[in-house]
Amino acid sequence: MKLDELLDKAKAARENAYAPYSKFKVGAALLTKDGRVFAGCNVENASYGLCNCAERTAFFSAVAAGCQRDEFAALAVVGDTDGPIAPCGACRQVIIELGGPDLAIRLGNLRGDTRDTTAREQLPDAFSL
Ligand code: THU
Repeated sequence: MKLDELLDKAKAARENAYAPYSKFKVGAALLTKDGRVFAGCNVENASYGLCNCAERTAFFSAVAAGCQRDEFAALAVVGDTDGPIAPCGACRQVIIELGGPDLAIRLGNLRGDTRDTTAREQLPDAFSL
């Protein structure tokens, strides 16, 4: 699957976002090396600290479905931002933990702007055990 297609799946997932507090919907789509796609959207909570980002929703769904770390090929993320969306720091740690430093990432917005990057570029010198 091409990254353009994966970004389209992230856009579709974005429509499912539960974001009544920020009204800021985010979609993610995580591609496995064997071609499966796990969708993610942000899920907010009145207890704001419990909000979960789209990227983590996608990764956690994949792990719950039995995916192992480093089984992933690419991640696409989209939001209604001026430029390509930027994952938060918590997501960057989860992305590199489960996706590995070489995971391909396409960041986008609703205007068609995109940025291709990697997990390592998103979080240099990441903490690991
Ligand atoms: N959020 C994401 O889901 N992904 C990102 O890349 C950036 C921010 C969400 C949007 C809103 O729900 C906020 O983070 C809540 O923590």
